Amino acid sequence: MPAKKIITVFGATGAQGGGLARAIATDANSEFAVRAVTRDINSDKAKALAALGVEVVAGDLGDEASVHKALEGAYGAFFVTFFWAHFSPEQEKAEAALFAKAAKAAGIQHAIWSTLEDTRELVPLDDDRMPTLMGKYKVPHFDAKGESNKQFVDAGVPTTFLHASFYWDNFIYFGAGPKRGEDGKLALTLPIGESKMAGVAAEDIGKCAYGIFKKGAEFIGKYVGVAGEHLTGTQMADAMGRALGEPVVYNKVPAAVYRSFGFPGAEDLGNMFQVYDEFEEKLNKLRDVNGSRALNPQLQNFEQWLAQYAKQIPL
Ligand SMILES: NC(=O)c1ccc[n+]([C@@H]2O[C@H](COP(=O)([O-])OP(=O)(O)OC[C@H]3O[C@@H](n4cnc5c(N)ncnc54)[C@H](OP(=O)(O)O)[C@@H]3O)[C@@H](O)[C@H]2O)c1
Repeated sequence: MPAKKIITVFGATGAQGGGLARAIATDANSEFAVRAVTRDINSDKAKALAALGVEVVAGDLGDEASVHKALEGAYGAFFVTFFWAHFSPEQEKAEAALFAKAAKAAGIQHAIWSTLEDTRELVPLDDDRMPTLMGKYKVPHFDAKGESNKQFVDAGVPTTFLHASFYWDNFIYFGAGPKRGEDGKLALTLPIGESKMAGVAAEDIGKCAYGIFKKGAEFIGKYVGVAGEHLTGTQMADAMGRALGEPVVYNKVPAAVYRSFGFPGAEDLGNMFQVYDEFEEKLNKLRDVNGSRALNPQLQNFEQWLAQYAKQIPL
């Protein structure tokens, strides 16, 4: 049997990379083998990957040599940055540049870069429908990723540009779930008007990435979005209500109100939701559900995700 082709996965103990690592490791017939990168090879999550037969290696985006080493001898690589760990678009751009440089040096034949739109192409900085943040961004955690696509192109790395959607898991882990108001009723607060927003089960992102690696060459240079379903705030609230056995209302707030909530990242996310609302068609067209299902036949819709996870949503 020929040796399996190694795919180096950054963020392998996290949501996106974890889904990819598990998708490959649990497919006994895979032509690929995972090399999972983590800062702590002794963490429970790292050990859980090792238990699946995954090669787990130490690496840190702050340690350039470790990034190069993690890519040595690999066929492919999954690259993701971690905006919410530091809130710095400049750091994300520097890390993307390092990924591109290291991928080129290692001769990576297929990279997947987990990117997002540079929203300044939709809302220029002088457009005052939403505030400019940090002096030169509209949605910092999107814009830095989109701006970084160029790093991979310029370095000549064969790359697929993967665009994730809003993780439904944010309702569990990111404080985005419904809250009980003073009237005792559950309300889901989002500033997306009546638009449908692309959402996804986080685990499905990596499964779609696996589908892209399997298809290979035809996806190089392509922009691919992944989504499990496009839903309005009312549709999400209603589905949550059914899953929780208690009504949830959609509390539609203006983006400006959401930006003023004051939690870390509220302005960034307020602008992001406004872009999801005002550019619904464009964002959803890229995040095609049928295309995602073609890459990952197990793709979940929101009802299926809720059937598994609704009980974990903190109320
Ligand atoms: N939440 C959403 O709805 C959403 C939607 C689209 C895109 N995104 C983007 O997704 C990205 C995050 O991906 P994710 O959700 O998969 O992350 P995640 O679940 O937070 O996982 C992050 C993993 O990355 C590793 N990591 C963190 N800092 C590192 C460093 N300096 N060097 C090496 N590894 C490091 C950590 O592993 P160890 O601790 O094991 O080292 C951690 O397990 C963000 O940039 C965000 O903008 C999020």
